[in-house]
Parts: sequence; structure tokens; C-alpha cells
Amino acid sequence: MLRVTRLAGAFALMVLPLASLAAPVTYDVPDETATFLPGPGVDVAEANCATCHSTDYINYQPPKMGEKFWSGEVAKMIKVYGAPISDADAKVIAAYLAATY
Ligand code: HEC
Repeated sequence: MLRVTRLAGAFALMVLPLASLAAPVTYDVPDETATFLPGPGVDVAEANCATCHSTDYINYQPPKMGEKFWSGEVAKMIKVYGAPISDADAKVIAAYLAATY
């Protein structure tokens, strides 16, 4: 009997540290830092341009690139990367990006 208790005690000593290792780890994820700038059409951009990557990709483009550049970017997202965006939405987004960025 005594031997069994000792063994159980030794076992508990071995298991306890493992149990504490397996305790759930909690950590805070920072809030999304990059957001779309406000402007007409921002809701359409939000709905279509934040599903695959963060808005950093848009923020990191040089400023004042104009409509041609942005409609090219939107077309690239659709044709090359398969973004499911309608022609009408693509126009709204390109105009929004050109006017806002
Ligand atoms: C289907 C997924 C998808 C969607 C939706 C999407 N993108 Fe992208 N985007 C990508 C991929 C993939 C890359 C390239 C990532 C890399 O090169 O690391 C990219 C890169 C970019 C870049 C960086 C420059 C470049 O040409 O590579 C910009 C700017 C960009 N996207 C803008 C947009 C805008 C604006 C929209 C909304 C119209 C959009 N994305 C929607 C997949 C997507």
C-alpha cells in the first residue's frame, strides 16, 4: 500500500509540470492596424479588397498613381489572382482608389 502511494506521488510529480505546460495559452492579437481611407466607394473596396490580403498592400503603393494604375491593379487582382469582382464594382473601386490614394 505504502509503495503504491509513493509511486502515485512520484507519478503526480512527473505529471504536474506537464499539465501546467498544457494549460491554454492566451495572447492578444493587435487590432487590424491598416484600414481603408474614407471616401466614396470605400464600402465596395472593403468588401472586395480585404479578403486575400491586408490593406497594407494598397497603402504601400506610391501616392497619386491615378485611375489607370488603379484600374490596372484591380484588373490584375481579378485576372491573375482570381478575385471575384464584378465589372461594375471594379470601376467603383478603381475610382475610389484613384481619388483617395
Ligand atoms: C483573390 C485574392 C485577392 C483579392 C480579392 C485581392 N487581391 Fe490584391 N493581391 C493578391 C495577391 C495574391 C497579391 C500578390 C501578393 C504577393 O505578391 O505577395 C496581391 C497584391 C496586391 C497589391 C500589391 C501590388 C501588386 O500588384 O502585387 C495591391 C496594390 C493589391 N493587391 C490591391 C488589391 C485591390 C485594390 C483589391 C480589390 C480590388 C485586391 N487587391 C483584391 C490577391 C488578391
